[in-house]
Amino acid sequence: MVDELLKWRGEFPILDQTVYLISHSLGAMPKGAYDRLHEYAEVWATRGVRAWAEGWWEMPVTVGDDVARIIGAEPGTVVMHQNVSICQSLILSCLEPTPKRNKIVYSELNFPSVMYVYEAHARDGKLRIETVKSDDGITVSLERFLAAIDEETLLVPFSHVLFKSGFLQNAKAITDRAHEVGAMVVLDAYQSAGTVPLNVKELNVDFATGGSVKWLCGGPGAGYLYVRPDLQNQLEPKTTGWMAHEHPFAFETELHYAPNIRRFLHGSPAIPALYAAQSGYKIINEIGVEKIREKSVRQTTRLIELAQEAGFAVTSPQNSGNRGGTITIGHEEAAALTSELIRREFIVDYRPGAGVRISPHFYTKDEELELVINEMKKIKDARAYSVHESAGAAF
Ligand SMILES: Cc1ncc(COP(=O)(O)O)c(C=O)c1O
Repeated sequence: MVDELLKWRGEFPILDQTVYLISHSLGAMPKGAYDRLHEYAEVWATRGVRAWAEGWWEMPVTVGDDVARIIGAEPGTVVMHQNVSICQSLILSCLEPTPKRNKIVYSELNFPSVMYVYEAHARDGKLRIETVKSDDGITVSLERFLAAIDEETLLVPFSHVLFKSGFLQNAKAITDRAHEVGAMVVLDAYQSAGTVPLNVKELNVDFATGGSVKWLCGGPGAGYLYVRPDLQNQLEPKTTGWMAHEHPFAFETELHYAPNIRRFLHGSPAIPALYAAQSGYKIINEIGVEKIREKSVRQTTRLIELAQEAGFAVTSPQNSGNRGGTITIGHEEAAALTSELIRREFIVDYRPGAGVRISPHFYTKDEELELVINEMKKIKDARAYSVHESAGAAF
């Protein structure tokens, strides 16, 4: 079988040096990022302040349009921010909890940074958080999640794919239930966009957010926020700044929100990060997420087979319909095993409760799947690691 996606390997320098199976954490850097960052410096050096009018000012929206294509959104419905945490704060700053509608519902397997945002806001007593428990630390019962969403629910911030285990949640069912009772949802698509096809319009989510560090191969500092078009002009974010103003260069003393997605901006944007991120989006858009998913399902299925043949316990969901692009392998000394793999240039990571996380992406060769499992088996059989060592990759 010819794997046509392997033609992209030459674009990613790190693939020549390592077996790189960590796109759930930091996707490989495309060579194009070198050129784009050089271009950024060149524009700054030669155009100086004129660069703002020549494209920089517009970049949070124009780059947002590149992301919009990946998540099935219309142009003009996505803006760029630094990260997911700030996007969640910004969303919450648009909402007014009342004594009758003040509940935030999420699962305990949500990304912790997201939970910290809501926990911190709940300190003033106006919000209540209902945390849906997981039985196994890997999955979340849909039935239990839906049952927690009721007429008192204000917002449901949930991950499409859980960061720890790769469990793929039923975004449609969660969104429909929230809407049925008059609540809104924030879809955190960080672990799905770029590896699981996703259409925010079809799902009818109110908000979606994510970042570019992982499957989008865009590097840090390029988070995104989608707001459903019909909601945009009804909301007035309190996390705001001059870029959200209808006439920012009038420098008026009062805030009049822009009548479009720009009202979800705040202060000056992180321009270098936006330059760096675009090469990854371009490649993902050129390939198309459907094709990436097809390959991902084939390779994650193969990884599960290989891991089980080698005597490892796979903790991520076995059914491909229930998982994103990552598989996890439980092992009592997973942290030390991971450190040793990294030392041998097999780049993976580890999460407590789930085990070693391994992710092929569109640039992964089938033989690399065999190589990583063989290496893990060799290390395990020889116990060639120190049990006191912790995982080398903090992210
Ligand atoms: C599902 C999910 N949400 C959010 C984040 C990161 O949030 P932030 O962009 O605020 O760093 C991650 C990163 O690991 C993640 O996996």
